[in-house]
Amino acid sequence: MEIKQINQPVSILSSFIAEMRDVEVQTDPLRFRRNLERIGEIFAYEISKTLTYQPKEITTPLGKATEWFPQEKLVVTSILRAGVPLHNGILNYFDRAENGFVSAFRKYTVNGEFDIHIEYISAPDLTGKTVIMADPMLATGSSLELAYKAIMANGKPKHVHLVSIIASQAGVDYISSILEEEPVTLWVAAVDDELNSKSYIVPGIGDAGDLAYGPK
Ligand code: URA
Repeated sequence: MEIKQINQPVSILSSFIAEMRDVEVQTDPLRFRRNLERIGEIFAYEISKTLTYQPKEITTPLGKATEWFPQEKLVVTSILRAGVPLHNGILNYFDRAENGFVSAFRKYTVNGEFDIHIEYISAPDLTGKTVIMADPMLATGSSLELAYKAIMANGKPKHVHLVSIIASQAGVDYISSILEEEPVTLWVAAVDDELNSKSYIVPGIGDAGDLAYGPK
């Protein structure tokens, strides 16, 4: 597995992440979702540089041109529900990709511990394809691990790109350890140092699903 962090060198991406984090901007869910979407577009562009391309001759009004199209069969998948705007941003670039979805949610017990529940999966056959799996927050890595395993039951892909905007260092370390030998690239924008006692990323952003879709 390889890890790629895309917020270096500093670019406009940093200001999009700042808006996601900022309590004063977080009051606008439309802007929050739009920021997830445009960061998805940036990830898609970075991932596009790792794909293989085949040439195609195009007829313009004035002549012929050769342009290049991705050779891979792409499948964009995301973890419901916070992954949806990120998914849409990636799909803006890879608009011919197939799509998959998996739900993962935390069910808390009385003492503040939680189990992850996977209840919904929809995915095409992944055999030999390039899969992108989007989840904006990589906290402990448990949701991503279970969602990854659930989606991978649909066939063995050629390569998997895991995409998270904000990760904790513990989450990055955990995913690297369990997928060490797999053909996987973990893409992150920011890596924060800490998790709190409820396994939320600190400083993080809070709950990405609630910020995108409520309740407030
Ligand atoms: N999910 C979130 O939305 N935020 C976190 O900090 C951790 C998991």
